[in-house]
Amino acid sequence: MALLDLMPSIWILGKALMAEVVCVCNGILDLDLREYLDAHPIHSIEELREQASICNKCMQCQEIVESEIYHAKIRRQNAGS
Ligand code: FES
Repeated sequence: MALLDLMPSIWILGKALMAEVVCVCNGILDLDLREYLDAHPIHSIEELREQASICNKCMQCQEIVESEIYHAKIRRQNAGS
């Protein structure tokens, strides 16, 4: 098997090793949440709950998720200035 054939698997493994689970109930990784928030201009945790299955069960992740929403807003502001 060529190295290029293995690249997607290596990339997925590397991503899984670097990432941390933010929302255990929904199996959401921090890297995936950041990617989602960068692609979708979410302004509040309520908006995120309506649009995606994140922080909608036990809500123990609410503080971390709100922090990610805040940092995504800052990234958007910095990208716009
Ligand atoms: S950990 Fe996110 S809803 Fe339970």
